[in-house]
Amino acid sequence: MSRVAGLLEGKSSLITGAGSGIGRATALAFAREGAWVAAADLSLDNAKATLALIEKAGGQGVAIQVDVAEEASVAAMVAATVAAFGGLDVAFNNAGIAPAMVGASGQKIADVSMESWNRMLAVNLTGVWLCLKHEVQQMRQQGGGAIVNTSSIAGLLGLAGSSSYPVSKHGVIGLTKVAAADHASDHIRVNAICPGYIETPMTEESRQRHGNRIIARVPMSRFGEPEEIAEAVVFLCSDRASFVTGSCWTADGGYSAV
Ligand SMILES: NC(=O)c1ccc[n+]([C@@H]2O[C@H](COP(=O)([O-])OP(=O)(O)OC[C@H]3O[C@@H](n4cnc5c(N)ncnc54)[C@H](O)[C@@H]3O)[C@@H](O)[C@H]2O)c1
Repeated sequence: MSRVAGLLEGKSSLITGAGSGIGRATALAFAREGAWVAAADLSLDNAKATLALIEKAGGQGVAIQVDVAEEASVAAMVAATVAAFGGLDVAFNNAGIAPAMVGASGQKIADVSMESWNRMLAVNLTGVWLCLKHEVQQMRQQGGGAIVNTSSIAGLLGLAGSSSYPVSKHGVIGLTKVAAADHASDHIRVNAICPGYIETPMTEESRQRHGNRIIARVPMSRFGEPEEIAEAVVFLCSDRASFVTGSCWTADGGYSAV
């Protein structure tokens, strides 16, 4: 019996934040579906560890160091992907940071420092825009592509005590809609994924501190697995989602529905 073709067979793909959590799970899922994977992360060691897992599973790719907040670094990442695979068909702009990483854990919005605000927006919003900008510039030369940006349920809700994080994630949804509208005529689809609480290193501290309180608010009574987000991203990046653009896909065990 011949092997069924993967949903991303032969596609050149790029994933940021691929060294951990949701990005790593998606890199593995893309490779399983037949894509060539550029695994990009601030930590080259972690990106290389993801690449090793891809290769162990029979996939192929490259590992790239990037700081998504720096335009020159983002441009070099896209150029390296194109140099490795000959083009760019699919991108997952997923790198992001939590309030704790900008000294704002549990902080109210009026108490956030300028430095903390600027760094959060630089990585979580400007970083996604920079990636999208350079990816679109490549994709439109090729005649099209598909992009998914990582927002969050924090892109849909206020989530008290999350400082500038929900602001950045609401911005990602706005960016996704504008990009979808602007680049539909370039045959580029742009969507956002809005994960709920997922078991990754990012949520380790909050799971330890008040995991039970979070779970009590999730209709499915559990945290999600990074692989459950990866499957939604695979679909959105695949040709099966050919009429889906400018949308926000929520995968949160029902959190935002109640
Ligand atoms: N875990 C959750 O519950 C959850 C929920 C909703 C949304 N998200 C979002 O999903 C995305 C992935 O989160 P995760 O839970 O896998 O977190 P994670 O911390 O496990 O992984 C994030 C990765 O992004 C990388 N990164 C951080 N800053 C970067 C930069 N400037 N340039 C390049 N890479 C950088 C980190 O090195 C890390 O490998 C983030 O955008 C996060 O905001 C996570």
